[in-house]
Amino acid sequence: MSFAFPESSPFRRSDFIFGVATASFQIEGANQEDGRCESIWDRFCATPGKVANGDDGSVACDHYHRWEQDLELIAELGVDAYRLSIAWPRIMPQEGQVNQKGVAFYQRLIAKLNSLGIKPFVTLYHWDLPQYLEDRGGWLNRETAYKFAEFADIMTQALGDDVYSYATFNEPFCSAFLGYRFGDHAPGLKDDKWGFQAAHHLLLAHGLALPKMRENAPKAQHGIVLNFAPAYPADPSNQADVEAADFDEQQGIHWFLQPLVEGTYPEAIRQQQPLWWPTILPGDLAIIQQPIDFLGINYYTRHVIKAGDHGPEHVRLAGVERTDMGWEVCPEAFTHLLTKLNQRYQLPPIYITENGMAGADKLENGQVIDQQRCDYYQSHLDAVAAAMAEGVELKGYFAWSLMDNFEWAFGYDKRFGLVYVDYASQQRVLKQSAKYFQSFLKQRKEG
Ligand code: FCB
Repeated sequence: MSFAFPESSPFRRSDFIFGVATASFQIEGANQEDGRCESIWDRFCATPGKVANGDDGSVACDHYHRWEQDLELIAELGVDAYRLSIAWPRIMPQEGQVNQKGVAFYQRLIAKLNSLGIKPFVTLYHWDLPQYLEDRGGWLNRETAYKFAEFADIMTQALGDDVYSYATFNEPFCSAFLGYRFGDHAPGLKDDKWGFQAAHHLLLAHGLALPKMRENAPKAQHGIVLNFAPAYPADPSNQADVEAADFDEQQGIHWFLQPLVEGTYPEAIRQQQPLWWPTILPGDLAIIQQPIDFLGINYYTRHVIKAGDHGPEHVRLAGVERTDMGWEVCPEAFTHLLTKLNQRYQLPPIYITENGMAGADKLENGQVIDQQRCDYYQSHLDAVAAAMAEGVELKGYFAWSLMDNFEWAFGYDKRFGLVYVDYASQQRVLKQSAKYFQSFLKQRKEG
């Protein structure tokens, strides 16, 4: 039971990095321990109607206490790398104060990863903003960008070059648009202009943090992680649908990537929705556009778009394979996305920092047979290899996720893990998909 890759596959090379990914709020729990302060996600979970079943992050996978076993589990999978994130509320529970207990937790974690020979990929911000900063406007307040740079400075001083790779942000699209524009994520605000303003401040924060990160960790790689869903017109022969799909990519893809690489925001937004344009101070775009050592790309699905009365609308195609999130399984769009971006931009080397699917997994007789996920990984890895064959420089691939965890507004209902978590007992069980990775990586090691 393993993946089937051809002899010539790039994945057989030992320098191609395979990893698994998680994020602090989704796995750690212990949200009132060792001096951690409230985050926007604690507040959001406590707000009735925001998260499925009223679930919250108070226990999650109890990783804060079980971290050692969890790292051993990662080692058992045989992966080269582990992508994790740092809970800012553990590090700076009050304005201007550093909490050594929080810092020490991550220092222990990174030390153990290195001792196991697993490369640490650290994301500094995976959505858990301290609530005291949200109380002052969160990402709508320009000050938050400077606060983030301070936090990034403290964290990279503490971990330095023990970390292989640092990403400033995970998916600023989600923080900005799901959080401040559509209201599906913390802090739950809804205004188009706010979404774009928050996005600008997140990107500014990235640019402000980078020089400090490079200074504190000169040997590490520094970059950012963006999520992309390429958009396809529902009816390719209908010009309005084609334009709507293009607009969906302007706001979802290019609004985030273009300023980083080219130092400009897409004019299409200004032309079509002038009221959404955020306040940008002179010099901001130069701060945002700095060389990065890598771009992390998260891919799950594509969008199918038609022109609606109020802009692009999502179309749900019938007769296509879907995951437990209802997301279409479309590996071809993954290859297409990567080759398209590679043509359009001068990109640094790419890591796929997340890819995976939710399944209605069941633990039966001590086993979880997640065949759909095994097939999903096979087809999406094939899609990555196809992009590489077309010249995309891709250095690694991370499965989302190491284990089932708190899936944001969906709570614990949606299972994305390679490892099944029985939340009542906190027992971890390798799913069949985990065994696929394990046996492929073992074969690769043995040559
Ligand atoms: C991504 C997030 C990650 C996880 C997956 C399913 O948008 O980065 O935390 O929730 O989706």
